[in-house]
Amino acid sequence: MESMGSDISLAAELLSEGKAVAIPTETVYGLAANALDAKAVAQIFELKKRPAFDPLIIHLASADHLGDYVKDTGPYFDALYQAFSPGPLTYVFPKQDIIPDIVTAGHPTVAVRFPAHPLCQSLLQKLDFPLAAPSANLFGRVSPTQANHVAGQFGDSLAYILDGGSAQVGLESTIIDLSQDEPIVLRLGGLSLEAIEEVLDRKVPYTRSSSSNPKAPGMLSAHYSPGIPLTHGNLDLNLNKVDRKRCGSISFCKKISGIPDQNQRILSPTGDLKEAASKLFAAMRSFDKNEVDVILAEEFPNEGLGRAINDRLRRASVA
Ligand code: TXA
Ligand code: MG
Repeated sequence: MESMGSDISLAAELLSEGKAVAIPTETVYGLAANALDAKAVAQIFELKKRPAFDPLIIHLASADHLGDYVKDTGPYFDALYQAFSPGPLTYVFPKQDIIPDIVTAGHPTVAVRFPAHPLCQSLLQKLDFPLAAPSANLFGRVSPTQANHVAGQFGDSLAYILDGGSAQVGLESTIIDLSQDEPIVLRLGGLSLEAIEEVLDRKVPYTRSSSSNPKAPGMLSAHYSPGIPLTHGNLDLNLNKVDRKRCGSISFCKKISGIPDQNQRILSPTGDLKEAASKLFAAMRSFDKNEVDVILAEEFPNEGLGRAINDRLRRASVA
């Protein structure tokens, strides 16, 4: 059997049989299984080596059948859905009993996203169940933005990798908790906090550790490890502490003097944070261990998607 390709019918068939399939989304690739089938979902945790206390996001084509899976969407959902879905925004709601505990790690809430990627949309429209899918990387590693990143980590252990090209957003979704009285952003991601605040016409707090989900590793410090030590912060200061010839760099738009050209990743020469976000994860995994002892990543502007980029780089630097 072909293990990678763009055959949506095959992907749908395998998922219906309870198998795990890698799927493209506009944020990052996901490792998907039938969210209503606890056994199918258990494979995801096994394959990823993911601890069972880290809950998964479920994916739906649209909100048409949302009421089957969540109890109450609250007063803020409609405006956000209208403005941003399908797209890189995940909502946390009180769950219905039909969602197995393994999906939510025993929490009474479930995270739901409506992905915009056309292949993923077509796939979800063919299915009569939601897909539970974390990012398709081994636990603690950089999320995949291309099908070959997934193949590199999982090889033959997946039934199929649905190849949808390079992820356009390139950062995981922004997560907003709508299960409490007031909306709270739990993870910065592919949709900026400012855009959410504009639509809701109010300030929305961002807190990494929420009472509903105190242990989520996606929100803990050491995560997103690129496999080579990474230092995040003021480049000019950090450059003085290293051998530049054995150094890699991740910068927003400028070239870094003294670092070999082939070890430099300039994410957007025109200074576009959207472009930088889409290239970040591929850049983090692109360095050669034989040439580079340390990666220096600069502090990006702390606004819009720059905040999510800094968040990922800061966590990668703790590992
Ligand atoms: O863009 C994305 O969100 C990608 C694509 C594949 O959709 N998925 C993704 O999944 O990033 P994952 O598993 O790597 O991150 C999911 C995050 C975790 O940090 C988890 O703690 C949080 O979502 N989460 C899931 N269910 C939750 C809940 N009920 N309450 C709070 N946080 C939750
Ligand atoms: Mg992840």
